[in-house]
Parts: sequence; structure tokens; C-alpha cells
Amino acid sequence: MRKYGIAVVGATGMVGRKMLQVLEERKLPASGYHAFASSRSAGRRIGFMGKELVVEELTENCFAGKDIDIALFSAGGGTSLHYAPFFAKAGIVVIDNSSAWRMHKDVPLVVPEVNPEAMMSHNNIIANPNCSTIQAVVALKPLYDLYGIERIVFSTYQAVSGAGLAGYRDLEGGIRGEAPKKFTYPIFGNCLPHIDVFQENGYTKEEVKMIDETRKILGDDSIRITATTVRVPVFYGHSESINVEFKKDLDMVELRAALGAAPGVVVEDDPEQNKYPMPVFAQDTDEVYVGRIRRDESVRSGINMWVVADNIRKGAATNAVQIAEELIRMQDAQ
Ligand code: A2P
Repeated sequence: MRKYGIAVVGATGMVGRKMLQVLEERKLPASGYHAFASSRSAGRRIGFMGKELVVEELTENCFAGKDIDIALFSAGGGTSLHYAPFFAKAGIVVIDNSSAWRMHKDVPLVVPEVNPEAMMSHNNIIANPNCSTIQAVVALKPLYDLYGIERIVFSTYQAVSGAGLAGYRDLEGGIRGEAPKKFTYPIFGNCLPHIDVFQENGYTKEEVKMIDETRKILGDDSIRITATTVRVPVFYGHSESINVEFKKDLDMVELRAALGAAPGVVVEDDPEQNKYPMPVFAQDTDEVYVGRIRRDESVRSGINMWVVADNIRKGAATNAVQIAEELIRMQDAQ
């Protein structure tokens, strides 16, 4: 079996460190690993697979002479925009966690449980969707296949780790009474209806990402979607209230069964036992938890559901590693 050289770019960051951890756990057929970050971190040592990886500086040709076939990027949009093409041109497949390439028409945007076929054709850059989008589409896909989707209303409750180490530290510092450094306002004891920058139409960029990326992944531009994304004082795990209106009439028994059988989904829904998904239980796992599933009685055919996942694992690192696994499967099958 072929072996693959694997690199993590942004290896010292919140997601990059988790990528290394997930790579350690999932044991890909790897010939070797490299870790890249900015010049600030060059020379730092990171414990990995019982040994140490020395962090190297990301440059336009840092891959030269090294055994690298796949590079997982999580070093911010500007860094991806600039450096990913150098890797791609050298024949390295970039799996990019930033938003830089997601909506590019020649770049597949992939959640392996939902649209692995999108990876059949790429130009050495494959995009990992936004964390909130990933968990939403894993839950929406089986419902879309059954009934078609007319409209979606997303309302999110997103963890501070989604804003990187700086976001995490703002909540830690806020608990100690310190002023925020990353967020515009204190996050401890607060909710911020403001994730990423505001657009001219009053939406934030995070909301626009959820709308555009959901359509691209489900391959259906006709779905009407609106979103409100909110940062809450939770360290790990995004929660989402998702209201869906279907094209066809639904059957609650069939719908629950489809969710229960969907890859990557765990249904946790027993109101009598106070059983529903929560971020504290999703933390450090790779599944998408779905509960509070109930008919939306205000429309002909629709539901509300509550969807929770670890934003750093399934929402970022695990999904990127799953894309790498899928890529390896496809290349081995050729
Ligand atoms: P560094 O630690 O050297 O700054 P987070 O989102 O958690 O803050 O992590 C961001 C990651 O992206 C870090 O690993 C950071 O490295 C890396 N990074 C940020 N800017 C650059 C850059 N210009 N070149 C390479 N890596 C970068």
C-alpha cells in the first residue's frame, strides 16, 4: 500500500494542534509528518506519536526536498490564500480549513459523510467548510434526500474556541475579570450576536458563510436560507437551532429513522428523560448530536431540531483528516 507524507500548516494553533492529535489517533498510512507555522514558532518542538516534531517556518518553498503529498492548512485565510497555490503547484494536495478557497468554483467544499463525490475532481486545493456549516449539513443531508428542502433558519450558539486561541483566552481571562482582547465586548456572562465582520446587508460574514456553504455542499442553490450566529461563553462545542421547511410532506417516524441511520449522526432525543444534546457532552468526540426533533406546527411540512458538535474536532480538524482519508482511498483505488 502507498504511503503519504503529511504536513500540518498552522500546527501551533487551536485547530492545527487538534489536527495533529486526530492524525495521531486515526493512523493514516503516512510515510512521515511535518509541522509548519510562522517564523515566531520555528524551532518549537511538539510531542507527536511518542516523538517530537520540530516546527518549521512556512515559506513559499518550505516543502522543497521534503516528502509531502498532503498538507492540512489551518493558519488563517490570508496565509492560505498566499501559500496554498505554491503547495498545489508543486503537486501537494492542500486541505484548507480557512474560508479563503471555499466558494471558489474550482475548489470542492467537502464533508465526507455528505458529498465525497465532490472530491473526484480538484486542482490540488480542497476546502474544509466552516465549523457551523459542517455539523448542520451532516444533520440536514438525510432530510434533504427524503423530502427536499424549501427553507432553513439557522440560529447558532458558538463556542469561543471557534475564534482560535485568542478567543479561548478571552473567556479564560473574562472569568478572572480581565478585559477582552479578541472580542469587541466581554464574552464571560454574555452573548455576542457578532461573529466575523459585518457585511453591507447587515449579516455577518459567518452568517453568509453558513448560507452559501450549505447551498454549495448540498448542491442546491434554490434553498432559501437565513442565519443568525452568536458567540456564547462555552469553551468547546457549537450548538444550533435549525428550523427546516420541506418540499414534500414529512413522516416523523421515517424522519427520525433516517436521522438515526445517517453517517456521523447520533440522535439524542428523549424529552421525558431530559435527554438532548449539549456541548459539554459533545466535547472531544467526532459525532454530530441531534435532539429536540419536533414538528414545526406553524408550517405545512417542517421541523425544529437542536444540533451539537465539537467545533474543533468534527467542525475542523476531524473533518479535514477525514477528507485526507477519503483522498487516500480515492488515490489508492486509481
Ligand atoms: P504561530 O503560532 O507561529 O503564530 P489560531 O487560529 O489558534 O490563533 O492559530 C493560528 C495558526 O496559524 C498558528 O499556528 C499560527 O502560527 C499560524 N499562522 C498565523 N499566521 C501565519 C503566517 N503568516 N505564516 C505561517 N503560519 C501562520
